[in-house]
Amino acid sequence: MKILVVGSGGREHALCWSLQKNSEHTIYCAPGSDGIAQVARCVALNATDIKALARFAEDERIELTVAGGEAPLAAGLADGFAAAGLAVAGPKAAAARLESSKAFAKDFMARHRIPTARFRVADSADEARAVLRGGEFGARDAPAVVKADGLAAGKGVVVARDRDEAETAINELMEQGGVGAEAARRVVIEEALTGREASLLFWTDGKDYLLMPPARDHKRVGERDAGPNTGGMGAITSSDVLDAETQARVVREIVEPTLAGLAADRLDFRGVIFVGLMLTDEGARVLEYNVRFGDPEAQAIIVRLRSDLAAIFDATAHGRLGGARAEWSDESSACVVLASRGYPEKPETGDPIEGLDAAARDPRVEIFHAGTRRGEDGAWRTAGGRVLGVTSTGATLGEALARCYGAASRIRWVGMHYRRDIGRFGKS
Ligand code: AMP
Ligand code: GLY
Repeated sequence: MKILVVGSGGREHALCWSLQKNSEHTIYCAPGSDGIAQVARCVALNATDIKALARFAEDERIELTVAGGEAPLAAGLADGFAAAGLAVAGPKAAAARLESSKAFAKDFMARHRIPTARFRVADSADEARAVLRGGEFGARDAPAVVKADGLAAGKGVVVARDRDEAETAINELMEQGGVGAEAARRVVIEEALTGREASLLFWTDGKDYLLMPPARDHKRVGERDAGPNTGGMGAITSSDVLDAETQARVVREIVEPTLAGLAADRLDFRGVIFVGLMLTDEGARVLEYNVRFGDPEAQAIIVRLRSDLAAIFDATAHGRLGGARAEWSDESSACVVLASRGYPEKPETGDPIEGLDAAARDPRVEIFHAGTRRGEDGAWRTAGGRVLGVTSTGATLGEALARCYGAASRIRWVGMHYRRDIGRFGKS
């Protein structure tokens, strides 16, 4: 098969790496990166230029297109490709609103009785403040969560410790344009939940679904969950992320009702659904939906896949998932993100990376490139905030982590930093 992956980060590198393991496939990636060029043919097209991507897919006779991130899907990738008769694994824009509008997702969950935090939607800062002062989410000194409605690259959610902090978040999001005026025209105010977090991802063609191993990511930049949120500093899969009994309940109370809700609302969903969960004392609650693989969850999940990823995506795109299977290695896995100085606020780039070859010598370690560039001399340099995702599997989580950290210790550049407590600390 000729397959096009849309995107350029560590997640897309992992997807291309897995797809090309079956040598019968030819993998293209738009726009890709120098790191991805090691496993796919990169095509210099913007990930949200749907017309140009569709033209390329038609000219090259691409048989299957896979969207890495949410931006191309929200921009109508699946709609444009379907109109051109091209197969795509990824939802149309109307269904991608499960991620691109938090208010839409919350209304969807309320309509279909899917357990989630209690919430209100506010269309102005005054309304948002009134919701808080109404005391619906607890007393003045109680926490509340403020979320920008639109896509905000992980910066649109503030878990406020009390009402003052929540009001400050409303001001920053809605009045000072912290994440862009469009994304924060509306906000969702919701009750703060407590518990451990877990992510459950699955492929679906709208009827059937295939679960992936549950994952947990680490969003805060610093050890012991200090500092600001990032796109993700690491992720793990391991049997204790979500025990079998809880997972069965999540399937019954969340996964299946989500698919039934999509069908009832006539939303055609063929792609990956990522459910962010809070495991509270009263049961699992949905924190968010994403309509694609997570980054770096994808890296940690994909290294455990034994099946041909292309066959699964193909079945997803063509509504044949009922006949597909996914075999996973019976292990744990981890991805540790190596970041550049200043990430997430103001990452420095252009620093030479040393030790990549030495780190890659362990055959059980995969190094996925998120933000690198290769010079004409062949030397790698940093080119983004998240630079590399050092990924491995192991019989135990400890073993997987030891491999990741062993490889990470061989890599260095000026200002490189990473969390030493991935898989060890944190609820998120
Ligand atoms: P989201 O983008 O909605 O997943 O939110 C990002 C992060 O904010 C989540 O991973 C949680 O750590 C936190 N969060 C979101 N909603 C809530 C909530 N209702 N209660 C507590 N923490 C939350
Ligand atoms: N790691 C979180 C995300 O991809 O949304």
